[in-house]
Amino acid sequence: AKAPLRVAVTGAAGQIGYSLLFRIANGDMLGKDQPVILQLLEIPDERAQKALTGVMMEIDDCAFPLLAGMTAHSDPMTAFKDIDYAVLVGARPRGPGMERKDLLSANAQIFTAQGKALNAVAKRTVKTLVVGNPANTNAYIAMKSAPDLPAKNFTAMLRLDHNRALSQLAAKTGKAVADIEKLVVWGNHSPTMYPDYRFATIGGQSVKSMINDEEWNKNTFLPTVGKRGAAIIDARGLSSAASAANAAIDHIHDWHCGTNGKWVTMGIPSDGSYDIPKEVMYGFPVTCENGEYKIVQGLEIDAFSRERMNFTLNELTEEQDGVKHLL
Ligand code: NAI
Repeated sequence: AKAPLRVAVTGAAGQIGYSLLFRIANGDMLGKDQPVILQLLEIPDERAQKALTGVMMEIDDCAFPLLAGMTAHSDPMTAFKDIDYAVLVGARPRGPGMERKDLLSANAQIFTAQGKALNAVAKRTVKTLVVGNPANTNAYIAMKSAPDLPAKNFTAMLRLDHNRALSQLAAKTGKAVADIEKLVVWGNHSPTMYPDYRFATIGGQSVKSMINDEEWNKNTFLPTVGKRGAAIIDARGLSSAASAANAAIDHIHDWHCGTNGKWVTMGIPSDGSYDIPKEVMYGFPVTCENGEYKIVQGLEIDAFSRERMNFTLNELTEEQDGVKHLL
């Protein structure tokens, strides 16, 4: 039998946590033959810790065969001890009247502390996914706060945007989501993201020529995917949770198990590909093999795409400049 892998999840008593933890313990993330130990972090607040206890009682009651252990924490220095994976979900939400820069600095505090804790106590090979918003910049902050860990192991979640785009394309073409290949979402997990189906295929056929409607791309597809989070809040009264948890599972699953050549989108520190400045935490098309991702190279970037890619890049550069003095 395989040795268990240690997975830390922050914000474990929150909405996304409630969808995520059960699936990790069920083997959906790391494989159906891979035992896991859950190390769950919540804020020290008494209500949050009590709610976490309740979630753990329910996890116990599932009697998951792959769950080899589970602990509750209020300090990242213990929660992150010896972990193989960190799924950083907990973040400071935007309160009423809170400005963007207040949100950035509140989260900068959380993610510098968590980055430092990862640096101090996690396994040297730990792989991190940041879900909590602003996800790209939070991942950047954690990466910069963990100088002894490989920068490439810090990633941000663009997978929900990728999956949202897949489902829109499947609906538009009347084809199965599973048959759509070579989709990418460039940039920031924010409405500025650029979902790009110029290279996408279904059964080897070009999705762009199947749809053959640039107006639909610009005026329907891009805004629908970009504003999907807001549409969910409007309809449900709560932000996306199960779909966000599902995307986190997909992200780590593919990173850990590989994609068999299939493209997926990950927010990763740029290596300078596609003229995205080094270290910017940016959504790129990648393939994964043996626990490593690799950016898909050689894609042609036309004028419209470059404009969109720069627009989302500028937002990220501004966010990252806005927190530099805190790092
Ligand atoms: P939630 O408010 O239900 O849960 C968040 C939990 O995190 C709370 O229980 C809170 O106590 C905890 N928390 C806050 N600060 C913490 C810290 N420093 N350490 C540990 N735990 C902490 O929120 P929900 O719906 O679960 O969303 C979590 C985050 O994910 C939000 O920032 C949300 O904007 C983001 N999100 C990101 C998506 C993406 O695609 N990247 C998609 C959907 C949500």
